[in-house]
Amino acid sequence: MAMHLQNHIDGRWADSVSGETFENTDPANGELIATVTRSRTADVDKAVEAARRAYDAWRLTPAPKRGEILYRAGEIMLARKEDLAREMTREMGKVVAEARGDVQEGIDMTYYIAGEGRRQFGDVVPAELPNKWAMSMRHPHGVVAAITPWNFPFAIPTWKLMPALICGNTVVFKPASYTPLLAVRLVQILEEAGLPKGVLNLVLGSGGDLGDHIVTHPGVDLISFTGSSDTGAHISELAGKLLKRVSCELGGKNAIVVMDDASVDLAVDGIVWSAFGTSGQRCTAASRVIAHRGVAMELIDKVVGRAKKMRMGHGPIAEHEGATVAAGGKIPRDGALAKGFFHEPTVLVDVKPNMRVAQEEIFGPVTAIIESASLDEAVKILNSTKYGLSCSLYTSNVNNAFRFMRDAECGLVYVNAGTIGAEIQLPFGGMKATGNGHREAGRAALDVYSEWKSIYVDYSGKLQRAQMDTSE
Ligand code: UN1
Repeated sequence: MAMHLQNHIDGRWADSVSGETFENTDPANGELIATVTRSRTADVDKAVEAARRAYDAWRLTPAPKRGEILYRAGEIMLARKEDLAREMTREMGKVVAEARGDVQEGIDMTYYIAGEGRRQFGDVVPAELPNKWAMSMRHPHGVVAAITPWNFPFAIPTWKLMPALICGNTVVFKPASYTPLLAVRLVQILEEAGLPKGVLNLVLGSGGDLGDHIVTHPGVDLISFTGSSDTGAHISELAGKLLKRVSCELGGKNAIVVMDDASVDLAVDGIVWSAFGTSGQRCTAASRVIAHRGVAMELIDKVVGRAKKMRMGHGPIAEHEGATVAAGGKIPRDGALAKGFFHEPTVLVDVKPNMRVAQEEIFGPVTAIIESASLDEAVKILNSTKYGLSCSLYTSNVNNAFRFMRDAECGLVYVNAGTIGAEIQLPFGGMKATGNGHREAGRAALDVYSEWKSIYVDYSGKLQRAQMDTSE
């Protein structure tokens, strides 16, 4: 029997004011998983009002206590990991082993950020005047809107919710309309872990119906968004006019550079995993390979061979510009797979750096192989797209590695590993059109979800004038 999924506002599960629903289906076969309440702007208003009401009490709850709730949430996630992974596979289609990884990343983030309940370090610095104290501390923004994508339906919400909550913000959470179930599960877990009512509010529906209203709502102080660069630019424009805080995690056109001194087999493993793992539907997926011409032939042979052997691909646009579909390129039109959304693992060769397939994000199991003559040329090609999320270099030459680490215009750089699989304890995000200068995860996450407050206490008992009462 199909489930019914509701909003969670002010601690209560409830249908939208509209009474309308939409369907949540299994992308592998079209089966109905759940009917989902379709929220309207009035539901957003209620969620924001609840979050505002809950804000002061939550802000004044000691951060270590907030952290204890997160630790409990992490324990519950761990206990339910398998169920969450299986539901994820059903709801959005990634294979179970990878769905487990998604849940694990959420657990890692939750535990890591729970520890920030007892850290959130500020600075204490010497004041320039006698008998004066100078320090900085973090201050929450107020109400955070978290707008999350379907491809990491558990991990990415934790990247936003956990740091927002530990810093003392309250939240309105709008997950992708493709993945409401995993969002409901995350909210249930945090509720069971003891999160007070109104601190986290869930609004289910489509971004088109709700997005602008959430972003421009006067009760929302910060918008954290993961999705396409076009939507990120739109959100930034709306929020910019209102001087709201915005953190955007956007597109990528990640590349693996393979030098002629690399272990080709190791590089092939990294390419296959990074290009076709999660069906290439990671913002970090390797959708370009920049191969030194000394190893290009061998590399292409091996990558194409591996792609053809995979059990489960888009060629026409690329072929138009002169690229060749060396493996894959098709969507199954009959048999059992025709009922779902499938695409063969696809390798494009004869690709030039300026072709559309080498410049635009594809977000599918497609990788384009480009040839280069040197590390310098490879780095130029790497940096030639508007994006700058993840990249990797395969080499056995330490000098190449350090030059690459220095020159790559990407927020994530890997050496002798693929482009996917970032760990949560370091900042995650990208340069150029991949973002707007912020980072998720790691300590950097706290910078998004808090403002800095600098505090001076003068205990001299007299007027002291900074920059003027100097000894000269
Ligand atoms: C994403 O696809 O938006 O580094 C996130 C990785 C994962 C996160 C991907 N840890 O591939």
